[in-house]
Amino acid sequence: MSKRFLITTAIDYANGSPHIGHAYEKILTDVIARYKRLSDVPVHFVTGLDEHGQKVQMSAEKKGIEPLEICDSLAEEFQSLCQRLNISNDDYIRTTETRHKKVVQTLLQKLFDEGKIYKADYNGYYSVRQEQFVTEKEKVNGQWPKLYGEVNEITESNYFFKLSEHQDWLIDTIRSDASLIYPRFRSADVLNFLKEPLNDLCISRPKERLSWGIELPFDDGFVTYVWFDALVNYITAAGYGTESFEDYWPADYHVIGKDILSPPHAVYWPIMLKALGIPLPKHYLVHGWWLNSGSKMSKSDGDVVNPLDLINTYGADAFRYFVICEMNVGQDSDFSEELFQKRYNSDLANDLGNLVSRLLNMGHRFADGIIPKAEIEEAEEKVVLEHWKSLKSDIFDLYDTFQFHKALEKIFSFIAELNRYTEMRAPWKLAKSEDAKDKLRLATTLATMSEGLRLASILLQPVMPQTAENILNSLGQKSVELFSDHVEWGTQLAGSSYGEKSILFPKKDR
Ligand code: ME8
Ligand code: MG
Repeated sequence: MSKRFLITTAIDYANGSPHIGHAYEKILTDVIARYKRLSDVPVHFVTGLDEHGQKVQMSAEKKGIEPLEICDSLAEEFQSLCQRLNISNDDYIRTTETRHKKVVQTLLQKLFDEGKIYKADYNGYYSVRQEQFVTEKEKVNGQWPKLYGEVNEITESNYFFKLSEHQDWLIDTIRSDASLIYPRFRSADVLNFLKEPLNDLCISRPKERLSWGIELPFDDGFVTYVWFDALVNYITAAGYGTESFEDYWPADYHVIGKDILSPPHAVYWPIMLKALGIPLPKHYLVHGWWLNSGSKMSKSDGDVVNPLDLINTYGADAFRYFVICEMNVGQDSDFSEELFQKRYNSDLANDLGNLVSRLLNMGHRFADGIIPKAEIEEAEEKVVLEHWKSLKSDIFDLYDTFQFHKALEKIFSFIAELNRYTEMRAPWKLAKSEDAKDKLRLATTLATMSEGLRLASILLQPVMPQTAENILNSLGQKSVELFSDHVEWGTQLAGSSYGEKSILFPKKDR
């Protein structure tokens, strides 16, 4: 088997319902996965749930149920969101699965046997809310930042993973591999973090404080803790320890939010892999945050946008369109339902939806429901064709470089061109004319509109798979499996039947 293009999302914490940030990350990854598949790349797309930890244990205690019950119900919630959003993941990994526990324990034992994990006393300040030790350095004006919640001083024995001996290697690696972290400017955050000497990473918690974790294979008084458990999911899902591991690993892209790049993904993870003799992931794609009036949307705030509400009102593709269109990958973006509705009405209901329903309407009235052949080519058609050529020459490069918001802008400007063309040709007038030339023009107009829509739909497929399929069906076509052979302007459509007239995006009023 040839090496798969392995693309992963972060695995979500099982400490609350999904919000728009989680939905966005999956959609972004899905757009890339679909785009790659359409470009004939064999893709393996993994997402999942991060189930262990103090917060899960605490909320289970509060509810008087087992932690796994909470995880099961959240796993269902997250997975049904994936389904609603039409996410094409090939695997869904849960950190409570046996396949994962086995890998974590194997790796822990290996590192322990090689002396790379050791036991020591640790005295420090502990933030319950963040589930991590924090240092005096992190105080602001003598106070712990609110983000940390209650902070207590504690001493306990724990196991540590040696990080510092790999610090120089990591700095070199990040400096020398310009394509490791996208966008590039995020490397600076990591290099900044690496300016200070690295402390070894505490990887355990004593069971009396935290039992909801994976037991250390060499000391059953402890469980492993947060990152050592969570990060390993990527190689578990790639089949670590099985023969097919090399068909999947190294990952081509880890898609993550900017809050978990440094230190977990860009410091702990590469050093863990280096210590284990496993190749590093090829790239990180680091996206920004969805904000609510300027601050990060997060589960602990409660002030979050529930993606299901929007999907129920506007549909999954409208949601996918909006988040991809409004986010310049790597930057932050402020969410507002007002803007959502504006985009929905103007881009989807008006520009795209109306074009389709007009075409179907006229196709049935003026062409007996059969897509005609283009009979002539005049200045009007030339403009459309030139626009298509320029779109085609730009679009793949935009997709390849994750500039999806620009790709959508270009596709929608082509759709606007098709609308302008329709207005200019005014087929409803041509249909009344007795002139033989006008009859050719009428056929040509419907053919050109149809062909333009066919091509625009194919380009939209990674972002709006269902809408693309619907439009293609209404042109007597199926959605395509590969771009190649299908993105030439041509005469593939003549003779196919127009589908029934339907409203793709009904207008919404507030
Ligand atoms: O960090 N906008 O889980 P998580 C955009 N379990 N993205 C956001 C976001 C927002 N407002 N809020 C969160 C974890 N995210 C760990 C990951 S991976 C081995 C373990 C993104 O549920 C966040 O950046 O807090 C992360 O990539 C993902 O959602 C899961 O966040
Ligand atoms: Mg988080």
